[in-house]
Amino acid sequence: MLYPIQNSHRNKLDLSGIWDFATDPRRSLTPEDLPGEQNWRPMAAPGSWNEQYEDLFGYLGLGWYVKKTHVPQSWEGQRVFLRVGSANYFAAVYVNGVKVGEHEGGHLPFAFDITDAINWDGENLIAISVENELRPDRVPSGNMPNSSMSMFASTPPTTFDFYPFAGIHRPVVLYTTPQTFVEDLTVITDIDGTDGVVTVRAQLNAEASGAGTVKLTAGGKEVAATVLRFAGGLAVVELRVPNARFWSDTDPYLYDLTVVAEGSANSGEDAYTLKVGIRTVRVEGGQILLNGRPVKLNGFGRHEDFPASGRGLNLPLIVKDYQLMRWTGANSYRTSHYPYSEEEMQMADREGFLIIDEIPAVSLQMADEANFPERLRMCLQQTDEMIARDKNHPAVVMWCVANEPMHAGVGVGALGESDPRIEAANLPGKRFLDALVARARELDATRPVTIVTVMGGPQSWMEQCDVICMNRYWGWYTLGGQLDVARQKLAAELDQVWDRFGKPVIMTEFGADTIPGYHGHPSVMWTEEYQADYIRMHLEVAAEREFVAGMQVWNFADFAAVQSIARVGGLNHKGVFTRIRTPKMAAHVLREFWVRAAAPVRAEPVTA
Ligand code: GCU
Repeated sequence: MLYPIQNSHRNKLDLSGIWDFATDPRRSLTPEDLPGEQNWRPMAAPGSWNEQYEDLFGYLGLGWYVKKTHVPQSWEGQRVFLRVGSANYFAAVYVNGVKVGEHEGGHLPFAFDITDAINWDGENLIAISVENELRPDRVPSGNMPNSSMSMFASTPPTTFDFYPFAGIHRPVVLYTTPQTFVEDLTVITDIDGTDGVVTVRAQLNAEASGAGTVKLTAGGKEVAATVLRFAGGLAVVELRVPNARFWSDTDPYLYDLTVVAEGSANSGEDAYTLKVGIRTVRVEGGQILLNGRPVKLNGFGRHEDFPASGRGLNLPLIVKDYQLMRWTGANSYRTSHYPYSEEEMQMADREGFLIIDEIPAVSLQMADEANFPERLRMCLQQTDEMIARDKNHPAVVMWCVANEPMHAGVGVGALGESDPRIEAANLPGKRFLDALVARARELDATRPVTIVTVMGGPQSWMEQCDVICMNRYWGWYTLGGQLDVARQKLAAELDQVWDRFGKPVIMTEFGADTIPGYHGHPSVMWTEEYQADYIRMHLEVAAEREFVAGMQVWNFADFAAVQSIARVGGLNHKGVFTRIRTPKMAAHVLREFWVRAAAPVRAEPVTA
């Protein structure tokens, strides 16, 4: 799923902006009715509708977006596609009343060939319907039976701890390609001494044979090139870059790779260019190695979340968040709990952040086997789509195929120790998760694969993982206000997990809800002092253990959760920054550990 680009062979028209929007709670509208005299209102896309209108805050039913556009006549003769970067949760797309396709699942792009539906001599009506109904068989799930009975009953009734924002969350783009075009590229990089080795797999949209070229440039200067010979639409070549500059979090160097497919009788030439970072990532013993050297993945769990834009793409926020993460000394984050925008992945490549890329399989109820088939189908689809989209980003160093799958009888206050009885009772869940890990490995053998486990969950679920990723809340959900005891329990559990698996451990979540500006002495829970003490304790415990390969605070910033007795003002307040990005005391604690630790150690002046 290549990102749309404009070049001398391809065109692109971004339809981001203010669309017309109308709700359709009874699902009574048909494309023929559009635009008609509905109660249209202005709606920004990208953007969640929930945060743009007070009466839509809780609305998750069907909504219609419509927009009229000309298609440049110069495009006639090419293939024209309509691509949506993300629509949460189920979308259908119509052009001039003709249905061109539909897609299930948020946070991942989809595109349809709309060439035959275009009116070249006038305006075209684009209509996109979206709904985000919470259902037990969806991924993520909601509206579970008896959900209103639980102590953490939430509104809306999700099974996950973030607001189920709905709408078109990323750009809607028209783009063109020649009739025969480069449909997919897979770039795999390796290191041989000081040489970079770049394997390129180029796939055309047709089983065409023919020639082409591939070249790698550094700052416009060619460093490697070769010819392509397409057979059955496929060409695979290897480029060698002498004395290559490798990509890393400390030196995120990017080359430009351009693939050209020569034209034929019925199709013009095509070219596609993408950024390439030459790096390797692998697990060895208790370490994660980037380019053969141990690396720590220190940073955050995050959310795509901000007032007014909701989960919608917010480019100024992305730039600001990367500066703030850099300011704390972080070099990594997890795309909790869904793939983030392609623009984020491009920033991570450019800025040098190590990404754990995660599908939306958050809090899946693993005792609820009746819904396994539907959920497994969606999880496999999301794994396929995430890897197809992100496989060429050097910043993506790990795939995560589930966050906190919930076993039977889980309690938020679970005491963390794994119970063999729980492991025996949760074999169906293990089979489900093992299937997802296997799928990710089958699609990409070059990156570690993991699942993120919940406190007290079956440790056997981690057996297939290359890296042990744990969310633990010692000193918050368990032993709250008792940081000394929590410290011992955390240390004991980390050591037990290392003894059992002998694999690198990343704490993918640890955090404490903190009301910004709320102080206390003694530092009781919910105060900024408590969060600072809590995070300091965790980083100290981790620093004593070489097998801890990363510490990711939950969360980078306060974010919209759901209405419940545990979420003050409907927000999760575990951010080290507030929702509008002002730092709490804990942000300064991170700088103590991550910025000073990373600062170059200056040699002591030689005394005479
Ligand atoms: C879980 C979950 C997060 C949630 C967090 C919390 O670990 O993965 O999505 O926000 O706990 O309760 O704050």
